[in-house]
This record gives sequence, structure tokens and C-alpha cells, in this order.
Amino acid sequence: MLLFPLPLRLFFFSLLLLNVQIASASPTNLNTNGYRLARGLPPLPPRDFGQRKPGQDPTPVLRARASPSPSSVVRYTGRLQVRSENRSTIGYVQDKSGLPVSTGSDLVVSVTASLTRKEQLNILATPQTTTALPSPFYIGASTQSSSENATIGTGVATTLQLTNVTKTDALSKPVKSDNVDALVESAIWTINSSTKELTAQYVNPDGSLPSTFLVYDNADTQLYLVGDTTSLNATFAPVKLFIVD
Ligand SMILES: *[C@@H]1O[C@H](CO)[C@@H](O)[C@H](O)[C@H]1NC(C)=O
Ligand SMILES: *[C@@H]1O[C@H](CO)[C@@H](O)[C@H](O)[C@H]1NC(C)=O
Ligand SMILES: *[C@@H]1O[C@H](CO)[C@@H](O)[C@H](O)[C@H]1NC(C)=O
Ligand SMILES: *[C@@H]1O[C@H](CO)[C@@H](O)[C@H](O)[C@H]1NC(C)=O
Ligand SMILES: *[C@@H]1O[C@H](CO)[C@@H](O)[C@H](O)[C@H]1NC(C)=O
Repeated sequence: MLLFPLPLRLFFFSLLLLNVQIASASPTNLNTNGYRLARGLPPLPPRDFGQRKPGQDPTPVLRARASPSPSSVVRYTGRLQVRSENRSTIGYVQDKSGLPVSTGSDLVVSVTASLTRKEQLNILATPQTTTALPSPFYIGASTQSSSENATIGTGVATTLQLTNVTKTDALSKPVKSDNVDALVESAIWTINSSTKELTAQYVNPDGSLPSTFLVYDNADTQLYLVGDTTSLNATFAPVKLFIVD
């Protein structure tokens, strides 16, 4: 992933080259072994490119790595496993229209997280089989229609579908989808780097951040996001979502 557009990277790189050129043109370079020997001074210690000298930066390569680079990013790839609160596996998000939870044709996804920036993440789906789903797509929250009140929270019965959505910015309020008459959000995810659990934080239309619970509907085998679990009946069960191999 290029964190800087190419022209900007080239610009940085030429700055580095310029630095080196300025350094080698500087008067300190008169301090060569020939110059030193002529004055009865001991020869210079052998050059060590890896060693950092006071007031000098490491080699351009090391310096380029210190700026944001692919090494400051970690990517998780796998299937989306749905577990009940008692840890038993319910199933996997399927590579099928509507993204039901089952087994058989598990959807493969990837999540790219920055090690330096903490921000809400996207789950990018990579459909393997021929499905009716558009590609690329993201897995996020969607209302049933764009006229629906997209607010969730304590005491609010609204349920949002967990489905294929278009990409939205981190901390974006619900956005009208280009594809369908619905309000959607994609960048709502956080990943726990040790357990690989994905948790959602939805952003309400007023910008508030409600407690966001992931629930599974036994009846239609689909996932929903809700702001309140107290009003749930036996059909809906709170679940956890993990990315697994
Ligand atoms: C775990 O919970 C699920 C549904 O919530 C239930 O179907 C299953 O029997 C439970 N498993 C155990 C081992 O309690
Ligand atoms: C999800 O995919 C279906 C099937 O291609 C498409 O009709 C629908 O518009 C997509 N939903 C969203 C919210 O983009
Ligand atoms: C949407 O629902 C929330 C919670 O019930 C409510 O506070 C808000 O006023 C509603 N917004 C609109 C535009 O109806
Ligand atoms: C990740 O999950 C583990 C186990 O539940 C927990 O102890 C840890 O605090 C979590 N890490 C973060 C950053 O939430
Ligand atoms: C459970 O609640 C949902 C959403 O409120 C509703 O659609 C469904 O019919 C309810 N199921 C039962 C068995 O009451």
C-alpha cells in the first residue's frame, strides 16, 4: 500500500539524494586518509554503513523506512467466524448474496490495520465464487431504506443489517449508498491483534458513538447491529465475530 502518492515519494527520495550530495560536497570530506596521513594523524576507522554517526542520519534506505511504509501496516486475511457468547461456533459469513452465516462457501476477507494510527477499519471482502455480489465490497452496517432513521442506542429498537456496503470514511456518519436505497457505514471495525476478534463501533447520524452490539438472527441466519440488547427476544442472540484462517 502506498501511503504517499508516487510523486510525493519521489520528492522525498530526491530530498534524500540531495542530502547525501550536500554531505559529500561538505568540507568534512577533506578529512580523507591521504589528508590525515600527510599530517601525521592515524587513518580513519573503517567505514561502517550501518552505524549511526552523531548528527548524521542512517543510510537513506533506513531513513525511508522510518517514514510510514508497508512495514507499519498489518494485514489479516481469513474467514469471518461467528461465535455465540458461550464460544461455540455458529458458522461463517458466506460468499452468497445477503451474507448468511453457515458453512460451505465461506467468504474470504482482509482487514488492514495501521500500527501507528488508531482508526476504525474496513473489512474488505474478496469473493471467490461467482456470486451476485459486487466486487470489491466492504462488510458494514446498512439500513433497509434511506428513509429509515439510522439511529441505534439504548431503548431504540432499530436493527441495522450487517451486509455488503460501499466504502465510507472512518468516523463517517451513515452515507447514502451508491448501489441501493440505503444508508451505510463500512469503517466501523476494530480488531484485537491477539484474539483476532472484530468489534464494531457505529456512528449515529448525529455523530454520537452508541454502544454497538452484534447479534445473530436464528430465523434468517443473518447478522445485525443493534444499540440495545435488552429488548431482544429468543430469536436474536448476541454473538462475537472473529477473523480465522
Ligand atoms: C451455546 O449457545 C448456543 C446458542 O446461543 C446454543 O445453541 C448451544 O447449545 C450452546 N452450547 C453450549 C455448549 O452450551
Ligand atoms: C449488496 O449486493 C447486492 C447484490 O449485488 C446489491 O444489489 C446491493 O446493492 C448491495 N448492497 C449495498 C448496500 O451496496
Ligand atoms: C431518530 O431516532 C432517535 C432515537 O429514537 C431520535 O432521538 C431522533 O430524533 C430520530 N431522528 C429523526 C430525524 O427522526
Ligand atoms: C484482546 O482480547 C484479550 C482477551 O479477551 C483482552 O485481554 C485484551 O485486553 C484485548 N485487547 C485489546 C486491545 O482490547
Ligand atoms: C423477535 O424480534 C424481532 C425484531 O423485533 C421480530 O421481527 C421477531 O418477529 C421476533 N420474534 C419472536 C419469535 O418474537
